[in-house]
Amino acid sequence: MIQTGSIILAAGKGTRMKSEMPKVLHHVCGQAMINYVVDSAKAVSSKVCIVLGHGHRLVEQNFESDIDIAIQTKLLGTADAIKSARSCFKGFKGNILVLCGDVPLLKATSIRKLLTVHRRSKSSCTFLSAELENPCGYGRVIRKDGNNVIAIREEKDATLKEKAICEINTGLYCFRAQDLFDGLDKIKLNKKKNEYYLTDIISIFVEEKKSVCVVKLDNPIEGLGINTRKDLAEANRILNKRTLDRLMDQGVAIIDPGTTYIGTNVKVGQDTIIFPFTFIENDVMIGKRCKLGPFCHIRPKTRIKDEAQVGNFTEVSRSTIGEKSLMKHFGFLGDASVGRKANIGAGVVTANYDGKNKNKTIIGDEAFIGSDSILVAPVKVGKKSMTGAGCVVPRQRNIPNGKTMVGVPGRIKPKGKSNE
Ligand code: UD1
Ligand code: CA
Repeated sequence: MIQTGSIILAAGKGTRMKSEMPKVLHHVCGQAMINYVVDSAKAVSSKVCIVLGHGHRLVEQNFESDIDIAIQTKLLGTADAIKSARSCFKGFKGNILVLCGDVPLLKATSIRKLLTVHRRSKSSCTFLSAELENPCGYGRVIRKDGNNVIAIREEKDATLKEKAICEINTGLYCFRAQDLFDGLDKIKLNKKKNEYYLTDIISIFVEEKKSVCVVKLDNPIEGLGINTRKDLAEANRILNKRTLDRLMDQGVAIIDPGTTYIGTNVKVGQDTIIFPFTFIENDVMIGKRCKLGPFCHIRPKTRIKDEAQVGNFTEVSRSTIGEKSLMKHFGFLGDASVGRKANIGAGVVTANYDGKNKNKTIIGDEAFIGSDSILVAPVKVGKKSMTGAGCVVPRQRNIPNGKTMVGVPGRIKPKGKSNE
């Protein structure tokens, strides 16, 4: 089997984002956009090299050590970026996949399809195109008499007639390594932008009678390149929709997909109902037959067990809520562990942060936390214990099993007094 390596282009400044942060670090559904591209590259290749430039120290921190980093010192265009990665591929004989760090929605299936066509056709280059209603800003695919590809023309250099072409270059290519590195040296500086365009390699190959293949995306939206904040919002919308569709296919009820946001790796059990305006971040697991929302914010490292309910105006962070427990009205749980069949009254707050550390609150099975109670962590509420309305449970003043605490600051109700 011929080897496949990948080069990810991510040195650009992302000027059109109007941001101090390197473009590829901007988040799409809770993850830096480049991480999606890196995952795709890792899935299909034995070696991955990322070309960084602008803000490279910040971007580098994202990756594990199995990834090579090449630095492009001057941002002289996409062809120059590939030159910076050359030393990582010394003696490499196989195919090289080139991906753009700002095209995060491409699915692994589309990348595999491109690789298959490339291997079968034995071309020098196979690239992925897409037919867009609005091709503005992308390189256009120029075909001779509507058939064979002869060039990719960047918008700035396109004639009016070429600008009307709706088939665009997605920026994903597969090259025979030797042809790529030989071709790079023949690319001339584009004087309008003072850049070396990788896309110019296509017409060079065609002149040299090397074969070039194009694979067209079935779903053009996968080719969305993120250049502006509007593109970023669009990518979030599309990726979120993919997640919601997946969960609905798995038997989750989402009342209003238009106002529901769920992180890409969130797991939700069957017959759970998610009410409108619910925001669930990555790294969350929700059981079966739960009810969430409306207006609820579930943050990372939260686990909500079967048949639990988290209702209106609630925030739950790094917490576990046990089976059949209820937190139906406004409140905050942070770093808390709630047992089974507990009731968290309206307005309950865990004061988990003391200004230095985040501390834990443990609430036992069948505990009943009265409305407006404040639990100052670290603290433990025993099984079947209670707090009275408005009680402030001081830190480390644990409530033993079956006892009730009332007042501010909270004190345990003595034996014999009724538990009203
Ligand atoms: C590029 C393609 C265009 C294609 C589009 C798809 C070129 C000349 N044009 O245009 O045909 O339709 O992508 O989204 O390739 N980069 C570097 N170093 C540089 C310049 C860019 O690493 O010196 C990186 C960027 O970080 C980015 C990628 O290359 O991840 C593409 O660069 P960008 O400037 O966004 O190119 P486009 O104008 O979008
Ligand atoms: Ca781009």
